[in-house]
Amino acid sequence: MNAFVARSLDEIRFWSRIMKEHSLFLRLGFRSEDTQLIQEANGFYSLFEQIEAKSHAFSAATAPEQIRAFNVEVHQAASHIWVFKRTVLGLILTCKLPGANNFPLLVDHVSREANYFRNRLSELNNGQLEPLADAIIDENVFFLKIMADHAKFIGHLLDPSERKLVDQAREFSHDFDQLLWQAQDLSSMRPQSQTQPLLSQFLDQNRVSVASLRDFKKTARDLIEACRVKSIIHPLLADHVYREAERFLAIIDMFENCLTGKTAANQNAWH
Ligand SMILES: [Fe+2]
Ligand SMILES: [Fe+2]
Repeated sequence: MNAFVARSLDEIRFWSRIMKEHSLFLRLGFRSEDTQLIQEANGFYSLFEQIEAKSHAFSAATAPEQIRAFNVEVHQAASHIWVFKRTVLGLILTCKLPGANNFPLLVDHVSREANYFRNRLSELNNGQLEPLADAIIDENVFFLKIMADHAKFIGHLLDPSERKLVDQAREFSHDFDQLLWQAQDLSSMRPQSQTQPLLSQFLDQNRVSVASLRDFKKTARDLIEACRVKSIIHPLLADHVYREAERFLAIIDMFENCLTGKTAANQNAWH
């Protein structure tokens, strides 16, 4: 099996669905008179829907050259949605969309995810191998911020009367802010901080908190789906942030396996 093909398809299958859903969330947050923005969001929805379908039509047996071309095509789509998201952020921050319902931090957040997706695709196509110890720190800095943001979104989109759940969300927000600072400290101590025991402990500590946030998101998702909790969270958004936590956990496990040398093959799979 070709690791480049498998890795590319895995990234595209996961992130194209995410990009498709971002288009839906952005659209839901626009006002009814923002017809141009709504149209653009719908356009991105179908674009990423097509990309997702295409990625499932390919398989690990597809020729690497074909995947390389597909990666370029998807990279372009990710760049375009990134520009759209940053444009929307600019409109919100200059108060051009009064009454629209997307938080600026949420729009910034989804643009960071588009940028991450785009970078993954160019790294795969360029065959740029980030050393394992750097990948561990960079990926964790990225995803810890994503998790900290999610906790804040949940806390702010739950009905204020859901006091217990809002408190829990706030605790997660604080926990992940602390973890993010720790990750940034480890990053600034590079390369001396990149020892096997320190990186391994870093992964262990992050895994515990991500697993617990993942469980909280799963509970929230089930409660929202069953209409047992008061909120303005779309059920698909609840599921979306749950899947992103699962993705982060899988990445942590893969790094741990690489660090301990359990699966040497996985090391190549990352790159
Ligand atoms: Fe997302
Ligand atoms: Fe996210």
